[in-house]
Amino acid sequence: MFSFLKQNKAQDQNQGKVIALMNQKGGVGKTTMAFNLAHAFAHQGKKVLCLDMDPQGNFTSLFDVNIPEKHIHHLLINSIKELKALHSNILISDVIKKTEQEEGIHIDLLPAGQELSGFELTVAGINAPRQLILKKFIEKYELRSQYDVIVIDGPPTLGLLVVNILCAADGILYPFVPDRFSEQGLKNIQQVVTDISEMEITSTPKNLGYIPNLFDIRRKQASSDLANIKQTLGEATVYEPFTNKVQFGKSLAQRKSVFHYKSLEYKDLQRQFTVMTETVHRELQS
Ligand SMILES: Nc1ncnc2c1ncn2[C@@H]1O[C@H](COP(=O)(O)OP(=O)(O)O)[C@@H](O)[C@H]1O
Ligand SMILES: [Mg+2]
Repeated sequence: MFSFLKQNKAQDQNQGKVIALMNQKGGVGKTTMAFNLAHAFAHQGKKVLCLDMDPQGNFTSLFDVNIPEKHIHHLLINSIKELKALHSNILISDVIKKTEQEEGIHIDLLPAGQELSGFELTVAGINAPRQLILKKFIEKYELRSQYDVIVIDGPPTLGLLVVNILCAADGILYPFVPDRFSEQGLKNIQQVVTDISEMEITSTPKNLGYIPNLFDIRRKQASSDLANIKQTLGEATVYEPFTNKVQFGKSLAQRKSVFHYKSLEYKDLQRQFTVMTETVHRELQS
């Protein structure tokens, strides 16, 4: 029995990790952070899958791929036996887009689209646990053994999609804009994590930390707002704040990460994301 346990642990260490960027608010940088973090991992030689779980498909549109007719929504529905009548004739290999972001930097994408907004209604009547559809999908296709890191971009809501992401992820990063309105949003999503933990249906994801974004250094109150929020966040890591950077706008408009650019003005952002990968890695080991 002992050797079996040891083997299990060894296997676990070889398994890819699922990391999600979450906040029920829109415009806080979830997609921006997910995209650049994925590239930071890819630049370290990791095999990366980007999984778009937002029906708006913003993550998907950052990749230079044709917007597909069938996407993650259809794959998730196909994975539910009870919904056989709704299954479409597609394979996961038809849906995953293989991209070369820069020379030698490959990232795979599982795209999303508008149909995903109907996910909650579509699965409302099934008997299988509705919270675990994404988790079981990742297991069924053994995505953890095919990728080192799976980066999920979450939607700005608190419904069943979010519950599915929280049940499937090993760790969560919370980008937020440090103003006096941000605290409640962060608390609400923590409450969902607590609710999942109390349901005892699966293990809950680790809090990998908070990412203050669009930090306004010129605003007098900004530092004290951030200090106040930090106090309420407890033990978790708070990353170095991202200020308002035109480099994000410029790079994303070209569908590039900050790592694409050699000029000095991108160095600091590259460093911030590299530090983030190291912290995430450490947090997931401990
Ligand atoms: N630190 C930043 N500096 C400048 N623009 C930013 C920054 N973070 C995000 N943005 C921009 O703000 C908008 C919203 O960001 P996004 O990542 O889409 O947020 P979310 O996914 O949480 O809705 C995008 O246009 C993005 O390019
Ligand atoms: Mg987004």
